[in-house]
Amino acid sequence: MKKIRLAILASGSGSNADSIMFWAKDQTDLEVVCVVSDKKKAFVLERALACNVKSQYVQKNKSLSKEEYDLKLCQTLESFSVDFVILAGFMRILSKTFLDYFPNKVINIHPSLLPKYPGKSAYEKSYASNDEEYGCTIHFVEEGMDTGKIIRQEKLLRNREDSFLEFKKKGLELENKLYPIVIGEVVRDLKKKGML
Ligand code: GRF
Repeated sequence: MKKIRLAILASGSGSNADSIMFWAKDQTDLEVVCVVSDKKKAFVLERALACNVKSQYVQKNKSLSKEEYDLKLCQTLESFSVDFVILAGFMRILSKTFLDYFPNKVINIHPSLLPKYPGKSAYEKSYASNDEEYGCTIHFVEEGMDTGKIIRQEKLLRNREDSFLEFKKKGLELENKLYPIVIGEVVRDLKKKGML
C-alpha cells in the first residue's frame, strides 16, 4: 500500500514538527517526507536531520512576489510528491496560488481558542486576558489569517499562579500531543473519501 506523503512547513523551533515526525515513524500508512522552512537557521531543520527526515530551506528573495515564492514552495513539495501539507509554526500567510495547489489539503495549529486571538503572540494575548481557559485550535487553512474550518479545539483550565513560561509550556504540550492524533484522523478520512 502506498503511504500518504506528508510535508511539514515550519519557521521556528519545531516542537510540533518533532512530535509529528516521531509519531509518524510508527505509522504504517503515512510518512513525513520532508520539512520545509522559510528560515535558513530554523531549529526545526536540525530536528528533521536528527529524525532522518529530508529538509529544505526555500530562500526568500526580494525580487520574488509572494505568489512566485509560494510557487517555489509548491515546486519543492512537488519534488517530494507530497499529498498533504502540515503547517507547524510556519510564519507566512499562504496565497491562493499555494492553496489552489493543495485544495483542502493544508492544516494548521494555532495556539488559541479561535476565533479568539488570531495572528501572532496568541499565548501572550491569552495570558494577558482574564480568560479562565485557553488552548489550541487545529483548522484547515484558507486565505485569511487563522481562518478556515475548525477541525478540533482543546481547552486547558488556566492556573492563575502559573508564570507565562509555565502557561505556555502547558499549552505547547497540549499542542504536541493533539496535533499528530488529529493529523492521523484527517488524512485517513480524506483517504477513505478518495481525496488523497
Ligand atoms: C505553536 O504554538 C503553534 O501553535 C504556532 O506556532 C508555534 C510553533 O511552535 N502556530 P513549535 O515551533 O512547533 O515549537
